[in-house]
Amino acid sequence: MTDYILRGGTVVDGTGAMRFRADVAIAGDRIAAVGTVSKIAGAREIDVSGLVVAPGFIDVHTHDDRALLATPEMAAKASQGVTTVVTGNCGVSLAPLTLDHDPPPPLDLIGDWVDYGYPRFADYLAALDKTPPALNAACLVGHSSLRVGAMPALDRPASPSEILRMQERLQEALDAGAIGLSSGLFYAPAVHAPPEEIAALAALLRPAGALYTTHMRDEAEHVLDSLDESFAVGRAAGVPVVISHHKTTGVANFGRTAETLPKIEAAMAGQEIGLDVYPYIASSTVLRVQRIEESLKVLITWSKPMPDQAGRELSAIAADWGVSLVAAAERLQPAGAIYWMMDEADVQRVLGFAHSMIGSDGLPHDVHPHPRLWGTFPRVLGHYCRELGLFSLETAVHKMTGLSAARFGLAGRGVVGAGAYADLTVFDPATVIDRANFAEPTLPAAGIAHVFVNGSPVWQDGKATGKRPGRALRRGRE
Ligand code: ZN
Ligand code: CU
Repeated sequence: MTDYILRGGTVVDGTGAMRFRADVAIAGDRIAAVGTVSKIAGAREIDVSGLVVAPGFIDVHTHDDRALLATPEMAAKASQGVTTVVTGNCGVSLAPLTLDHDPPPPLDLIGDWVDYGYPRFADYLAALDKTPPALNAACLVGHSSLRVGAMPALDRPASPSEILRMQERLQEALDAGAIGLSSGLFYAPAVHAPPEEIAALAALLRPAGALYTTHMRDEAEHVLDSLDESFAVGRAAGVPVVISHHKTTGVANFGRTAETLPKIEAAMAGQEIGLDVYPYIASSTVLRVQRIEESLKVLITWSKPMPDQAGRELSAIAADWGVSLVAAAERLQPAGAIYWMMDEADVQRVLGFAHSMIGSDGLPHDVHPHPRLWGTFPRVLGHYCRELGLFSLETAVHKMTGLSAARFGLAGRGVVGAGAYADLTVFDPATVIDRANFAEPTLPAAGIAHVFVNGSPVWQDGKATGKRPGRALRRGRE
């Protein structure tokens, strides 16, 4: 029984292959046909002539763990054409962890553990099943969350018994369907974890068919050492590695992606490696004094004691208060910030690298978020593909669909083909563009016409439909 026929569009199928004209028929949660489809009684016809029909975009780097439950319409992502999000990145996952107090940064980026605590990963996935979001979720387990749950103090390596406790929780999560382990070795809760601690956890991944993603220990001066450390984890465990939000930060390291990308490419000859990237020269995370010194400009995204300062530049706040940047930052804590600390040439080099996937790294609970939360995918399509011609539309779509699904093992997704899940995004290639910017960071993108998840429309005519057909995807199960 065919439910929808997308009539007369141009299919960019996600594999990187050349576009072609075709109708797309949707039956239930699947694509029933791609080609010339005749009228079918009972099927709704949608005229998509002049528009591109692509696989729904896969946001491979998110912190949407709690947003999926707290804001299930997921407008920030659905409005961009995203149909699946990968959660639990940078070592931070909502599960498995229960807390009766505020967690240490950066866990507070997705915080509120008092109302959203899940002792087992299976409980978190069950909560998504029970109150489904609009989008699909593929979920990683965060190493820092495991640490916070297993260790009374984080300023040292885990003891053998603590490693055992983390392994038990990780195994439970993998059995429940987690797709892998993430680490955030850059951050305080994990910075004292030695490579052996990561190796002890990563050893559980291969039997489960899972992968390892990492926000590396260093994306600045020692970025090459950090790449070696990340590759070693993957080689020892025999699993794919994904380098998160790849970049080189700080003025002293501008231009150094010319070193990192050939190194990644060379290592790919011997092991499976992927990487993701967001299309901006500014990063965003919790407010860190060290980052302030490395940045050209800092914008506050939230502050617990001073919520009114969100959206203001740190230099202006410090001037108002007549104090140094560091002193102002201390008064604002706990807080989050945006840091201008990358070079545009590096961003373009990583985006243009054949193996890079698109991931937003958006922070959905920030008061004044980085615009990547609402703008990443349309910015790649509109600014970097159409306006700058950095790559073809087929390549741009592949980096946000087929490549991502293959890398993260999302079976039946990331392509437009008969039998695949009907996760589809219809957009206007002539007008698609991000509208979110640093001053107004939550403006929905332009040019996204229709978004379907598992055969149901979740976004059309510039707004959410209210439908919530998303699924908590389990690794190895369709
Ligand atoms: Zn990160
Ligand atoms: Cu992240």
